[in-house]
Amino acid sequence: MLSGKNILIGITAGIAAYKSCELIRMFKRQNANVRVICTPNALNFVTKLTLQNLSQNEIGIEEFDVKDFKPEHISYADEADIMVICPATANTIGKVVNGICDNLLTSVISAFAKPIVFAPAMNTNMWNNVFVQENIQKLLKNPMYSIVEPDSGYLACGTEGKGRLASLDKIYQTTVEVLNSIPKKNGFLQGKKIVVTAGGTVEDIDPVRYISNYSSGKMGLALADYCNAQGADVVLITTKDIDATYKVVKVKSALDMLNAVNDEFESADYIFMAAAVADFRVKNTAGQKIKKTNDDEITLTLVKNPDILKDISSRKTHQIIVGFCAESENLLEYAKDKIKRKGCDFLVANDISRKDIGFSSDYNEVYLINKNLDTVKIDRQEKSKIASKIVEEVYAKTGCLQTCR
Ligand code: PMT
Repeated sequence: MLSGKNILIGITAGIAAYKSCELIRMFKRQNANVRVICTPNALNFVTKLTLQNLSQNEIGIEEFDVKDFKPEHISYADEADIMVICPATANTIGKVVNGICDNLLTSVISAFAKPIVFAPAMNTNMWNNVFVQENIQKLLKNPMYSIVEPDSGYLACGTEGKGRLASLDKIYQTTVEVLNSIPKKNGFLQGKKIVVTAGGTVEDIDPVRYISNYSSGKMGLALADYCNAQGADVVLITTKDIDATYKVVKVKSALDMLNAVNDEFESADYIFMAAAVADFRVKNTAGQKIKKTNDDEITLTLVKNPDILKDISSRKTHQIIVGFCAESENLLEYAKDKIKRKGCDFLVANDISRKDIGFSSDYNEVYLINKNLDTVKIDRQEKSKIASKIVEEVYAKTGCLQTCR
């Protein structure tokens, strides 16, 4: 799974350092190449020999251990795809956010322009210390940095609280997710601009109430992540709060989404419309909270929202447009009718009456339909895999069109 990946593990001086030994094994089992740098004090908790044996590589400790013409910290930073600092002590985090490079590890971190996953572990009072918390917030200012927050529980110092190293599974999983989100240098979508919509639009009734739907934005996010990993220039237009390394445009209503799609439309090569857009909005949104009266009924008048998919499909020049279709019955029949009415190039149909796929689930099962109504079924699996299959299938049918234009 991690074959060909170069993972650089940084170990700092905390009691949780012994757990990093198992983390090395987890990465090695998946065929990653693992190198390790320790702060000098970390060797009070784990031995160099153990780390050397587990990683099957020499361990970096001293800064001026120059082996070739390149300074050691630059060589380490060049080679790795990702760094994982496990455990990350308050001391090392403090140095990193202040640009202090007083040992090999802090120097490499500073010279590393690729993603770093920090797994802090420390005593609860240290974790809660206002300055440590400020430093954690500062870490997050670097978009390349992720933090796997410590767990709460029994700590080695005999107290209970937050500060225990997060589970190794969580640290491993985060590392894999971050690695997967790094654009591939030779991805097949290099040079393509891809716009993806995601999430359910929110149509205000008054300042406290709204009409929306159950879309979590996961399907759209999976598409955007996959396109990004394949080297595309991605714009994700979503109603959800998302942190990503690519461009994210946060919108609320269908009208906002229409404007955002229009802004990106001309220069897009592919547009995936996975958002669940409200077909109607409230005609007169109340400026103040609607008061309860003695009436047992209230009437809201709804007006039609613009159909974004239909609109852009009617104006398209070179763009390949992929709509989605959420149905609770007669899936294929309604989807085939919808692709004709909307005029898009492809339609991805999913059954949103099923609890094990569709809205909010991590899984989906879809049919990809083209204009000739040829249909490919993509069996139930994680949305990340569904996304890769949709993109690959669409690209296989249209890539030449796009490349040759
Ligand atoms: O977000 P998740 O929880 O991961 O769930 C994923 C999903 C079920 C929302 C997704 O897979 C999906 O089916 N998205 C489309 C939902 C939808 O609005 O379907 P629809 O059949 O009502 O609309 C058809 C297409 O027209 C969609 O591409 C939609 O974005 C678009 N549309 C709809 C209405 C409108 N006014 N403008 C539009 O552009």
